[in-house]
Amino acid sequence: MPVGDFRNKHLDLKINSRRLHERINALAEVSPIEGGGNCRLALTDEDKDGRDLVVAWMRELDLEVTIDAIGNIIGTWNVGSGQSVMSGSHIDTVRTGGRFDGCYGVLAALEAIETCKDANVIPPRPLAVGIFTDEEGARFAPDMLGSLVYVGGMSTEQALDVVAIDGAKLGDELVRIGYAGPTPCPGAVPHAFVELHIEQGPMLEANDVRIGAVTSVQGISWQEVTIHGQSNHAGTTPMSLRHDPAYVAAEITVFLRNLAKDLGGDQVCTVGKIDLHPNLTNVVPARATLTLDVRNTDEKLLKIAESKIKDFLAQIAISEGVEIKTRELARFEPVVFDDRVIDLVEEIAKEQNNSVQRMPSGAGHDAQMLARVCPAGMIFVPSVKGISHNAAEFTEEADLNAGANILLHTMLALTTLDSTDK
Ligand code: GLV
Ligand code: MN
Ligand code: MN
Repeated sequence: MPVGDFRNKHLDLKINSRRLHERINALAEVSPIEGGGNCRLALTDEDKDGRDLVVAWMRELDLEVTIDAIGNIIGTWNVGSGQSVMSGSHIDTVRTGGRFDGCYGVLAALEAIETCKDANVIPPRPLAVGIFTDEEGARFAPDMLGSLVYVGGMSTEQALDVVAIDGAKLGDELVRIGYAGPTPCPGAVPHAFVELHIEQGPMLEANDVRIGAVTSVQGISWQEVTIHGQSNHAGTTPMSLRHDPAYVAAEITVFLRNLAKDLGGDQVCTVGKIDLHPNLTNVVPARATLTLDVRNTDEKLLKIAESKIKDFLAQIAISEGVEIKTRELARFEPVVFDDRVIDLVEEIAKEQNNSVQRMPSGAGHDAQMLARVCPAGMIFVPSVKGISHNAAEFTEEADLNAGANILLHTMLALTTLDSTDK
């Protein structure tokens, strides 16, 4: 895609890296945890505090701030005409989150807009920054819930009824923290969407490459498995008479590890949460509940993995004499990003003297939902040691700056993306 004349006039424009880092650090001061990370589970008081801080920055910048019915916050710089070029991400975190996952993308988008305003660079269409509700899905499943509702992939009513891992209802929590907004969903369709994010994996660092031009996001299958057995005395119940949900949960965990090994390639499988009831040393549990997170870049292979898991659950329910129930928490097919956005990210990264590689995303992102309604893509920067969803998550300042400058110029270039030229 030819880069529009508009951006060519502003090739020297650079973000204010000090302001970006000050904001990243200030947001990380909201609900800090030991080790430098954050706990801001979606729609908790901590999430509210984070939202309030970023909304205040949006208002200081004179952005038009809208809050929609699912709590997504969109800050728009209403210049030019037509649909906006949107960027953004999320500021909710997992319980042991780092300070960059999501927050970096939101704050870099804000910085890109402020940079343009400071330099009086007026794009031909609005620029917007979105903070999407509950991207992590750690408290309310599915993940990317806010952006899913934004693009009409789930009804607002259904989303408001989702129940959290702590029993709270999403709609009630939105009202409680003051983020049940008046703007209806689905939201306004952007002209294009680009999200900047840390890689959260080891590939860029291993390849000594600074920028990832993200081509796709792998498919995600989450389910909750509940095993009902026979609770009994740990000392008196012979092993041959047990119907033990803890044992079955362990077998399922081992099965998933072996399944990923056998399928090979991109297949990953995780048991991230196991709850036992009554969870006591001397009681064979009555019940185990665990979550399965299964991902593959290939939909056919993901389906094969799901079918093998289904067969295994049926078989172990019989052999151990337990009842197993499953509940789908999230199911998203792999997503391929728009070639024009991928090319643009690669071109701008090179133009700014960065090494760049095309790569799929292992993590889920809001951009994969926006890709349903507009040209969309992503920019990755390296994660030190590939660590994320962990307080130790870290990205070098120079890499954060490089990514934010590429985001700025990609947003500007997208303002002149010809939507008829596919
Ligand atoms: C979202 O962070 C995910 O689990 O990929
Ligand atoms: Mn994220
Ligand atoms: Mn995350």
